[in-house]
Amino acid sequence: MTTHRIALLPGDGIGKEVVAEARKVVDALGLDVQWTHLPWGSDYYLEHGQMMADGWAATLRAHEAVLMGACGWPTVPDHIALWGMILKIRQTLDLWANVRPARLLPGIPTPLAGRTAADIDMIFVRENTEGEYAGVGGRSHQGHPIEVGIETSIFTRAGVERIVRFAFGIAQQRKHVLTSATKSNASRYGYVLWDEVVEEVGADFPDVRIERVLVDALAARMVTNPGSLDVVVASNLFGDILTDIAAAIQGGMGLAASANTAPGTGEPGLFESVHGSAPDIAGKGIGNPVAAIWSAVLMLEHIGEPAAAARLLGALEAVCLSGPRTRDVGGTAGTSEVGDAIVARLGHPAL
Ligand code: NAI
Ligand code: MG
Repeated sequence: MTTHRIALLPGDGIGKEVVAEARKVVDALGLDVQWTHLPWGSDYYLEHGQMMADGWAATLRAHEAVLMGACGWPTVPDHIALWGMILKIRQTLDLWANVRPARLLPGIPTPLAGRTAADIDMIFVRENTEGEYAGVGGRSHQGHPIEVGIETSIFTRAGVERIVRFAFGIAQQRKHVLTSATKSNASRYGYVLWDEVVEEVGADFPDVRIERVLVDALAARMVTNPGSLDVVVASNLFGDILTDIAAAIQGGMGLAASANTAPGTGEPGLFESVHGSAPDIAGKGIGNPVAAIWSAVLMLEHIGEPAAAARLLGALEAVCLSGPRTRDVGGTAGTSEVGDAIVARLGHPAL
């Protein structure tokens, strides 16, 4: 049996609670997994003045994958916490592909009236290293009335091409339609380049139909006609915003999972719930662990364990259908009760 080395990065708030459940269910699969617990995050920052330990990149690179909770806590300014951890990891390891499945699982309520699981099954492919989150800009005249903040969006041909090509590949394995989120009517440079690259790369995928949709109209369409969308490719900012809408219609932040990877390289993938540290419910044991466990499913696929991934996803789906469920999706269960129920399903698939 292959030994898998996984870095466990619970981070802050409910990140710690949901990652504990993800670890528990992965352990129940009977794979040979060696976990390295990394105590980084906002508490670490308050003690050491930095979110992660020196040599963090080498530490992460000694693993096949990173399973992360969330970073950010009211005691640390948000831009310091995020740029000191999640954004730093994505940028330094160049984890350019962020994949977020947005599927409504049977048994989970959606706020969209009249919609069922058959209507909501989308995959978002978000560019993860540039665009509006490239970190380029500056501030001047700080504290004066003429103060200015400049945030520059960066779109490179190489950066757009790799994410778009990757998204076409996913579309090819699904319904052969790729929807590209753009704003090339108002943004005259970056998104015009984006559109051009989508057309060019599309020539290599003649069996995939390209649909170019302005991002504002796309946001509305996700609500009015989600069944018309399958694979969506989007820039960093657009993907970030659209996937919160997607999370809402798939049952809430407690359901939304994500993978951050650098396909074709040896870099470890980073797998995390889309949600943050949820200070409003942290410490109460009521956060939904489904997003974290679904992220672990994506991680198992990444480390070459597709059978284990399918088994875990099956158990997760069964528990979403029959309960127990946490209160954000209409139940009364606590975080670990849901994890325990998934472990029980793994042992008895017919339950
Ligand atoms: P949040 O996602 O933590 O919470 C938003 C709302 O969703 C809250 O009402 C929360 O209770 C609920 N929620 C989130 N996850 C849930 C779960 N698993 N089960 C049930 N309910 C859940 O977003 P918020 O409040 O804007 O951010 C809190 C902190 O997290 C901030 O410091 C923010 O910067 C950080 N953050 C970090 C992310 C990351 O590490 N990738 C992503 C998003 C936010
Ligand atoms: Mg977000």
